[in-house]
Amino acid sequence: MQKIGLGTWPLKDSLCREVVATALELGYRHIDTAQMYANEAAVGQGIADAGLERDALFVVTKIWPSSFEDGTALARARASIAALGVGAVDQLLVHWPNPRLKVAQIIETLQAARDEGLAHSIGVSNFPSALMAEAAALDTIATNQVEFHALLDQRKLLAVANDLGIRLTAYMPIARGKVPEHPVVQDIAAAHSAQPAQVALAWVMAKGVTPICMSTKRANLASNLGACDLALSPDEIVRIDALSSPSQRFCERDSDNPDWDN
Ligand SMILES: NC(=O)c1ccc[n+]([C@@H]2O[C@H](COP(=O)([O-])OP(=O)(O)OC[C@H]3O[C@@H](n4cnc5c(N)ncnc54)[C@H](OP(=O)(O)O)[C@@H]3O)[C@@H](O)[C@H]2O)c1
Repeated sequence: MQKIGLGTWPLKDSLCREVVATALELGYRHIDTAQMYANEAAVGQGIADAGLERDALFVVTKIWPSSFEDGTALARARASIAALGVGAVDQLLVHWPNPRLKVAQIIETLQAARDEGLAHSIGVSNFPSALMAEAAALDTIATNQVEFHALLDQRKLLAVANDLGIRLTAYMPIARGKVPEHPVVQDIAAAHSAQPAQVALAWVMAKGVTPICMSTKRANLASNLGACDLALSPDEIVRIDALSSPSQRFCERDSDNPDWDN
């Protein structure tokens, strides 16, 4: 698994296809999508355009939680695999917890998809630590994809994930541009002659978390990939750690939000 991945929300159609193909040309190998993004076919086209061997890629998709309730999850997983054209995804995740279902019911369906050869591994997304631990007691959970950036205090979730041996994936790793705007991040970037977004991403990677960042711009895609080579000092990491007080979460649903850790 690469240290950084490409996010694809809210990309659609030809722009999505172009961004995916460009990212793969630049050296990205980990591509994140979801059924909810309605772009899996465009992601698949971008992957096909790049012409890489399947084994070189790491493709992740997510099933919307209501599909586990109405019995359509497996059929939708098959449709995702067909749209992506990759044979099987590397990680198949449930996009959010479903408060009307037991964690076991969701995991059983993901296991069935894996048994059918639709996915190499299974995982969760937006699971707070208690639900993540419940899932981990049932099977190997490849990742928990969660909002994770320097403005949100995720220390408790990360500690539990580390104890369980689950690698977190960071969505919104630069908080849609808010982290690079922070003066502390800009100051550290200047000291490294780096871009502020690179500092934001390097901080996520320093935590042992895999960021999936989205950009529509070739220059930003290239620069973000370059963050893998930026090493922050322990002092710089401590300065950035302080930015999550007060803690700011930006991704919430209108309903069915789980009981977050903070
Ligand atoms: N599991 C979930 O519930 C969930 C929720 C949200 C997101 N996600 C996934 O996580 C991915 C990433 O999250 P996100 O897209 O919401 O937020 P993000 O990656 O933190 O931020 C994307 C925004 O940052 C800008 N940007 C990217 N690189 C930049 C750079 N080097 N300098 C300045 N601006 C830059 C982009 O604009 P430009 O196009 O102008 O570069 C874009 O507007 C999504 O695409 C999606 O795949 C998952």
